[in-house]
Formats: sequence, structure tokens, C-alpha cells
Amino acid sequence: MNRGIEMKGFYFGVDYYPEHWPKARWKTDVKLMKDLGVDVVRMAEFSWSKLEPRKDEYNFGWLDEAIELLASQGIKTILCTPSAAPPAWIIRETPDIQPTDIEGRRRYFGGRHHNCQSHPVYREHIQRYVTAFGAHFGKNPNIIGWQIDNELGNSHADLCTCPYCESRFRLWLQAKYCNIETLNRKWGNAFWSQEYRCFDEIQAPKITVAGRNPSAILDWRRFCSDLIVDFHQFQSVILRKNAPEKFITHNMMGFADKVNYYDLGADLDFVSSDSYPVIFMGKQNSPKYARVAAESDLMRCIKDKNFWMMEQQSGITGWEILGRAPKPGQLGIWAVQAIAHGADTVVFFRWRTCAMGTEQYWHGILPHSGIPGRNYTELKEMIAEMRPVMAEVQGTVPKPEAGIVFSYDQEYGIQIQPHHPDLSYTEQVLIYHMAFYKKNIPVDIISEQTDFSKYKLLIAPIQYILSPTLADKYEKYVKSGGNLVLTMRSGVKDESNLCVTKLPLPGLLGKVLGLEIPEYDCLRDTSVQVSWKGEKYTAEKWSDIITLTGAEMLAQFSSEFYSGYPAITKNQYGNGRAFYVGTEPTEDLIDRLIKELADELTIASLGKTPDGVEITARGGYVFVINHTEQIQKISVPASWEPIVFHNADTIAPYAYHVYKDKAYFIL
Ligand code: GAL
Repeated sequence: MNRGIEMKGFYFGVDYYPEHWPKARWKTDVKLMKDLGVDVVRMAEFSWSKLEPRKDEYNFGWLDEAIELLASQGIKTILCTPSAAPPAWIIRETPDIQPTDIEGRRRYFGGRHHNCQSHPVYREHIQRYVTAFGAHFGKNPNIIGWQIDNELGNSHADLCTCPYCESRFRLWLQAKYCNIETLNRKWGNAFWSQEYRCFDEIQAPKITVAGRNPSAILDWRRFCSDLIVDFHQFQSVILRKNAPEKFITHNMMGFADKVNYYDLGADLDFVSSDSYPVIFMGKQNSPKYARVAAESDLMRCIKDKNFWMMEQQSGITGWEILGRAPKPGQLGIWAVQAIAHGADTVVFFRWRTCAMGTEQYWHGILPHSGIPGRNYTELKEMIAEMRPVMAEVQGTVPKPEAGIVFSYDQEYGIQIQPHHPDLSYTEQVLIYHMAFYKKNIPVDIISEQTDFSKYKLLIAPIQYILSPTLADKYEKYVKSGGNLVLTMRSGVKDESNLCVTKLPLPGLLGKVLGLEIPEYDCLRDTSVQVSWKGEKYTAEKWSDIITLTGAEMLAQFSSEFYSGYPAITKNQYGNGRAFYVGTEPTEDLIDRLIKELADELTIASLGKTPDGVEITARGGYVFVINHTEQIQKISVPASWEPIVFHNADTIAPYAYHVYKDKAYFIL
């Protein structure tokens, strides 16, 4: 639903938890925030027990006070509904609100997200609370908008499989398939005697003895996503009734997969995002900045407009174990990177490191002591430097000439059957994004619903689950002059996750690609050689053994029993061209492919930089960011007028420069 409520202005902000600190401290906090340059705070997303300590006994006074105090310094508030953390009294009254996992075990109170999203009694609690909350705060002019829940889908590995979710799933299936015969056919239930006689026989997918039905699981994943969207909508309807003029947003998590963000985005006035470039999980040395850029490119494209960074890392992250400390300058460059990719507001998580609970080591701008240190000083400097730039660029977005398609159905399909143990659909999207990122070529990450015609070049990795409508859309795009790159395992499945049998692979895409794939090879514990006009490359995970029916060969496999067969092809179709990459190219090969295409199509790069230095542009401003710990050489065109600038031809470690150039005024 797009109600035309726009983000007015731009802000810097913090996520604030006044309820964790004595009231006597609040004034100091607000003063320090003001000095830092804070315009907005987000509050109350986990404070249900403090706001309704007993049923129908609302205790909104402390939050009113905090809002007033902030407002006295000109700081606005975003309030959140607390449905991600139902209080103990609700759980005690109705314990089966606690979700059930795929092993049929209950997950208990004591953390967060301990709620089933279908449970009718939980919905009643939400209805009551959000109505009272909206009525009380809805008229307050110091509250500019709402965030519903927090990171919907987070912690819900398999969502909930309780009887309420199960019966909701049955209704969802009934609405989709109308009768059980159709469902049996679409799910291929003749296999292993899985046919149902009625919808009541269907269970929420739990742990099995051996194997699971890929079609059933795909529908379950889609159902879970729809349930989350419905859970959000259930609350947004109530808030909009009480405060129609205030915006509603939600803090998404990049490429998280539990909810289809395009669907969730439809209920928002604008998208918000959470970003932790150096999170404590995973390898601490791998450069996450390229992935963070991709996440922002996705967030911007969900509604094709600016987004907010609602949680931007502001210190060391950690729960039980900790991540690396952000290096001097890194907090600032992460915020600038978000802005460069389309954020109009950056809110830092969190204001002050909490002294209690699970997140004692998830560091805020202020340390436990509350005494401002390096994080505070660095962010204060960045905010002062960027505020005038924000005033100019707000409302503008980069307008790339290349797009990469990202789809939740493909993500679910490949998760259900990854083929190769290391194959990940999101990683495929990211390696193509990386090839553009390294060349400083702006790129959008878009849904299948987007108008493709605005892109000179479209990359659609692994179009595994393919509807006739989408196949037709790709064909039309190419016919009318588009340049489309499709990759391995495309056109394999229909929308029910059944293998296509009426046509040889790549199914409905065979015509536009001018090829057939009678055989393939899953590259377990090995890789394959590819040669392209004499140059040698390596490819991994998968080889399609291609027969050309009209396309020409660009690169060929040069090892294995299919040596000499095409690995990358090109087909002239109508006024455009369809390329096919029948393997997972390693970095050099993908770099060459994207370089050749970009050069040929004159898709402009914003400049050549050393690895780890990015250039991004929006609204007439160019942002150069050094994500490395070395001083890097840069060469800046004479037309770029320095705005935030420290050296002429170098950029310091973890530093940013901002320039102005009318050529980049792309709205
Ligand atoms: C985010 C979440 C925050 C906070 C933070 C640190 O994912 O939205 O509420 O928990 O992580 O753990």
C-alpha cells in the first residue's frame, strides 16, 4: 500500500532504550544526543512489559516523558510495536503462544521472538495493545512514524509448526488449490505414497525420517512469508486508523530469507534496513563492504525509492562472543556508504551499550560507562560533515543502467535442493553484484515485477523456478532490445517445484537463449577449466553440457568429457541478445564477462579505483570510500568539486571523500 506518505527531510538518529537507565540520566543522554547531531530516536520495540505490566493496565507515562524530553531538544521519535517480545504474563496465561519448532518442541520464554504469529489469543493481545498504544501516541506531533515489530522473520528458523499455524497453512493451501486432487498433482504426491484425501490430512512440515517433498516445502516457505506479511498488516491497519498521517516502516535485514521483502514492502511507506558490517558471527576478516553495498542496493529497489538505515552498527557487536572493534573511521564510512546507496536517514544501534541482558556486548555509541569516547567523536564529525550533503541529496537515488534480479522463489528453490552442497542462490546474486561493484558501475537489485525495459543490461542468475509469465517477460525484454544474462539451472522447475518435462532444458528459455541442455554435471569436489579466446579460467559447482540451436559460443569448457562444449553463449534474438552462463564462473571469468558487456553497451563506470575503494553517486554528489586499512591512490576528474575532502590524490584508510559534479545529478 503506498499512501503517498513520504519521508520528509533527512535525519541522523539513535536507537534508544530509556527504560534501561535511571530517569536521572535521561537529561544527560538527550543533551549528548543533541551535541552529537541526533534528530530522531527509535524507541519501545521490546518494552511491552514496561508499557503494559498487567492486562489492560497501561503505563505509557514514562515513554511520554522521554518523548517530551527529546522533543524539548528538537528530537523526534519513532515508536515501535513490541510484538517481538510478549511479556511473561501473556505467556503464563496462554503458554501455547510460544512457538513450536520442526521437531515439535516448544521454544520457551527467556529470549525474544517467543511468539506464534497465527495464535488467535496472541492476535487479540496485539489488537488490544496496538489499539491502546496507537490511540495514546497517535496524536503526539513529536512522533513522526511507527516501526511494526522488529526484524520480522529474525530467529524464526522454521517459523512455527503449532496446530494454529498448521490449520492456517491448510486454509492457505485450500485457497490456492481449491481441491485436493489439484494439490496432489501439483505437489507430485504420487511419489512415496504422499497423496492426501482431504486438506485436513496435511501437516505443517516437521522433521521426517527421510527426505521431504520439495513442492510441499516451497509452499510452506511461501506460506510462512505470507503469514509474516499478514502479521505486519494486522498491526498496520490498527495504527493507520489512529494516526493516518504518520509513516509506517519496518527494519529489514538485507538478504534474510524468511519473508519476501517485496511483499512486506508493499505495506510500508518506505523501507528501513539494519546493517552490521562487522558482525560477531562468521569470519572476521572477510570484507563485508561489498555485501553491505548489495544489501543497500536491494533495500533501495524494494520500493524504488530512498530507504532508512534503522540500525547502523555503532561499535563492537556481540552476544556471548564478540566481533572485532570497528577501526578508526569505519563507523563513519559505513554510514556514508548507506547514504551513497540511497539512505536518507541513518539511525545508529544503539545509543549506549546495555549493562544487562543478552546484548551486554552489542556496543553502542556510548560505552557502558556512558562517557563519550572514540565512537561518539567519530560519528559527531561525520554527522557535521554529511549534514549539508544530506540536505542536497535527500530524495534522490542512483539510477543504474544495469539490474540484477533477486527472487525469493529462487532462493527457496535452491535452499530446498541446493544441488551442490556449497551452492547458494544469494551468493550467485552477490558474485555478479561484486563484478559491478569492483568496477564502480552502479547496479540495482530488483524483483521480477520490475519494469526491465529501463535497464540496458539485466542479469538474472539461476532462474530455477520459472512461470510462463516470467519466461515471456524475459523474452519480450530481449526481443525489444534488452541484453539478458541467464545462468545455470534456469527453466528447470515449474511454479510448483516440479521438473519441467515438456521441453528439454532450459525449458521455456530455450528459444530466447538458442540452446538446449541435454546433460549436466554437478562438480562435486572438483572444478572445471574454461577457455575464452585463448585465456584460461576456472569454473565451479556446475556444468551445463550445451547443444547450440542458434546461439554462438563465447567461451568453452576445456576439461572434462565435455571439453569443447560451450560454457558461455550469446544469442541474437529480436533486437536484443540473450547470454547464458552454464556454470559458476570464478572471479576472473565473471569480471571479464561483465567488463565486455559493460564496454560494449557503454554502461558507465564512475571511475577506476584500487580494490576496496568504492565510488557511488546520487543527486549530483560523488562519494569515494576507502574500506581498506591502507592509504589508497585515487584519481579524480577535474570536474569533481571537492566538498568533503582531505587529500588531492590519495584517500586515507577508512576515510570518505565527497565531491560535487552535476553530471551525476541523476534523480
Ligand atoms: C538486530 C536487532 C536489534 C538488536 C541487534 C543486536 O538484529 O534488530 O534489536 O538485537 O540486532 O543484537
